[in-house]
Amino acid sequence: MAVRGVGRLTCVSLCAQRNSRFQRPALRPLSCPGTVAADLRREEQPSGSTETGSEDKSSKKRFSEVQKERREQAQRTVLIHCPNKISEKKFLKYLSQHGPINNHFFYESFGLYAVVEFCQKESIHSLQNGTHTPSMVTEAAIPFRSRFFNLKPKNPSNQTSERSCIQSSNQLPPSSKKLFELLCYAESIDDQLNTLLKEFQLTEENTRLRYLTCSLIEDIAAAYFPDCTVRPFGSSVNTFGKLGCDLDMFLDLDEIGKISTHKNIGNFLMEFQVKNVPSERIATQKILSVIGECLDHFGPGCVGVQKILNARCPLVRFSHQASGFQCDLTTNNRIALKSSELLYMYGALDSRVRALVFSVRCWARAHSLTTSIPGAWITNFSLTVMVIFFLQQRSPPILPTLDSLKILADAGDKCIIEGNNCTFVRDLNKIKPSENTETLELLLKEFFEYFGNFAFNKNSINIRQGREQNKPDSSPLHIQNPFETSLNISKNVSQSQLQKFVDLARESAWILQEKDKDRPSPSSNQPWGLAALLLPSVANMKSLAKKKNKRPASERIKSLLDSIKSNSTENSTSTNGKRTISTHT
Ligand code: GTP
Ligand code: MG
Repeated sequence: MAVRGVGRLTCVSLCAQRNSRFQRPALRPLSCPGTVAADLRREEQPSGSTETGSEDKSSKKRFSEVQKERREQAQRTVLIHCPNKISEKKFLKYLSQHGPINNHFFYESFGLYAVVEFCQKESIHSLQNGTHTPSMVTEAAIPFRSRFFNLKPKNPSNQTSERSCIQSSNQLPPSSKKLFELLCYAESIDDQLNTLLKEFQLTEENTRLRYLTCSLIEDIAAAYFPDCTVRPFGSSVNTFGKLGCDLDMFLDLDEIGKISTHKNIGNFLMEFQVKNVPSERIATQKILSVIGECLDHFGPGCVGVQKILNARCPLVRFSHQASGFQCDLTTNNRIALKSSELLYMYGALDSRVRALVFSVRCWARAHSLTTSIPGAWITNFSLTVMVIFFLQQRSPPILPTLDSLKILADAGDKCIIEGNNCTFVRDLNKIKPSENTETLELLLKEFFEYFGNFAFNKNSINIRQGREQNKPDSSPLHIQNPFETSLNISKNVSQSQLQKFVDLARESAWILQEKDKDRPSPSSNQPWGLAALLLPSVANMKSLAKKKNKRPASERIKSLLDSIKSNSTENSTSTNGKRTISTHT
């Protein structure tokens, strides 16, 4: 799903930055980015390890608040391709001539990059004004004043390397080996689920880079559509994203129509002259086509641009080389944005939700139930909805139904998109925490048991009402789209893929049951609990073993040649006496 380019990352803590001499505290913006970071850090705490249920009494941020703060933060941020040997101190000193720096970090992705967040937006104009377009010798540069820069030393020999003392952290998820080690040494299955969440969830730096990438793409799209907004959605923002997941972007042009600074007084109504096209879909295709061209021709760092305009949801797919993200840009896809908000809400309501979803997603990936290419397989989005549905079934329920969230909504929450009622309460503090105290271990086992025995042939999954319903059609797996209720979000899933899911779920429930009885000692280093679930399934192991037992390739080729030879002798004289096959050269 994503181009995994981002490698090692150097982070400098926000606190260290705040104390640095490059910042003047008096100029700190009102919307302090640290508050978002603090929220994220709180999120990064292993969820549900000692407590079950969501007992966090502190006020939780709304999705829109997080988006607003992150967006504002990204607008004050620049991306700089740095020389490999750079003195961090000199680099910061050089940049701080444009204004105080609030935060920065380095990462490697086919070169060294720095993400630098200024305290004020004005610093970016100052930096841009001091930057020139390179003059090429053999090629021609297309001038574009973006926030993506190239830093070159004036005198390379003067640059001493101070990178050795920079603390680096890895931005990629752990290797399978490291993960197995971590899981094997965990104290309990609950601990394993929380460890997996901690290792795979998006880091603070990765989240910043995602918002920054959207902001950079927004600058390009704004060349055509000033005042447009490019918003991240999907797993980048719904708190269920794993390191390395794709970056889904939504080009929002709706705000443009709403901008009107003057009150319309008088007898007339003034409208913009616009071009009309026969349908909304054609408008979407035309807009994305032109933005795709822009990204391809003028977008610094945008490569492999593909315009996939005939898809159900037209999109432009490209790699943002510098960040390493595989990006999908859509427009007219507001419901997906609302789905992201709903998932964010569910993820924030109870500390067990994310831990369970991450484990189920990793389990599905380990067994090739999900892949990065579209096809007849189940998607991460569907799996997440299945976990939410399962948690609505517990007694007492761990998560509320969507209908009950709608009842709690007030007038400000009202949201109708393309005739679909997408209203639900957005203030997390209005939702009563669950009284359910089940452990993650029990929930994981029960999840597999529940779906290993689910009547997929006749029932549909429905998080709006939180109960099984009769399937309205014959698709093997029916998961009702929460907002477009006549649609099935898993329409693509084939019977054989569903069967594979069911078989693996049963097998996993059985493994958890068995391991319960006979857990190996920690020192034995034997996979147990979640680690055992992430190993290839028994069925796969058998087929692997069969393959391994096969004779060496050279032997197989020799016997194949022998059999062809004997066939050729057999066939050399057919009934009509003519040679039909000959192996003679
Ligand atoms: P990853 O696999 O980590 O990328 O998860 P994701 O949740 O980002 O999924 P994906 O990139 O496939 O889709 C992005 C978002 O689009 C999802 O989070 C949903 O909000 C929405 N979406 C994806 N598939 C469907 C679908 O079949 N129906 C609807 N209504 N929305 C979908
Ligand atoms: Mg995605």
